[in-house]
Amino acid sequence: MKISASILAAKLTGLATELPTYKKESIDLIHIDVMDGNFVPQISFGEAFTKEVKSHTDIPLDVHLMVSNPELHVPKYFDLKPYCITFHIETTNFSVRLAEEIKKQGIRVGVSLNPQTPPESISQILPYLDLVLLMTVDPGFYGQSFVKSGFEKIAAVRKLTKPYDIELEVDGGVNESNMEELAKLGVDITVVGSGLYKTGDPNAQGKKLKELAASGRTRS
Ligand code: DX5
Ligand code: ZN
Repeated sequence: MKISASILAAKLTGLATELPTYKKESIDLIHIDVMDGNFVPQISFGEAFTKEVKSHTDIPLDVHLMVSNPELHVPKYFDLKPYCITFHIETTNFSVRLAEEIKKQGIRVGVSLNPQTPPESISQILPYLDLVLLMTVDPGFYGQSFVKSGFEKIAAVRKLTKPYDIELEVDGGVNESNMEELAKLGVDITVVGSGLYKTGDPNAQGKKLKELAASGRTRS
């Protein structure tokens, strides 16, 4: 199980000193939640901040765009060569074109679904994807509880993505209580915000979550 650290839940002003301390065996990806104040009510950070984050870490960036009109924003992240760029299926009528544009840059392409968006909404675009990011909370806030329909939805999305070489990423309300079950369901990447930062030691917590996932996998 890869752990993608959602820095939205970290102390942002301390990141320049904190990011270089992250150990690759605990934290695989740095999750960047870009919010535009339109698709979601908050404004978080954009490409300038993301560039700053990159300058303090070698851990690959996992860019999650919670923005309207993603076609205007996606190209801003090309130079940063992130691990992947993920846009929301609810935000665009140009998902195939956008996916191809990202791929052309040698960057993995992801599509995200909100909790109320049916799994079938991504059926047509699956052959173009490297990753599906399933939201298990409403987008825009960290520290919310994993939605009740979460496990069922993950199983449904896993069924759709299985014939393809697509990573399944789950974002929202992930913590020690559900990590084993997520691993059992075949989730490849979990985004962890408050569940990683609450202890004040993200390296130790990341390691612990990976151990729980490993034990979940062996029981699947
Ligand atoms: C929510 C964001 C998440 C969030 C996760 O809109 O996409 O990445 O920061 O935080 P937790 O793990 O606290 O739910
Ligand atoms: Zn996110």
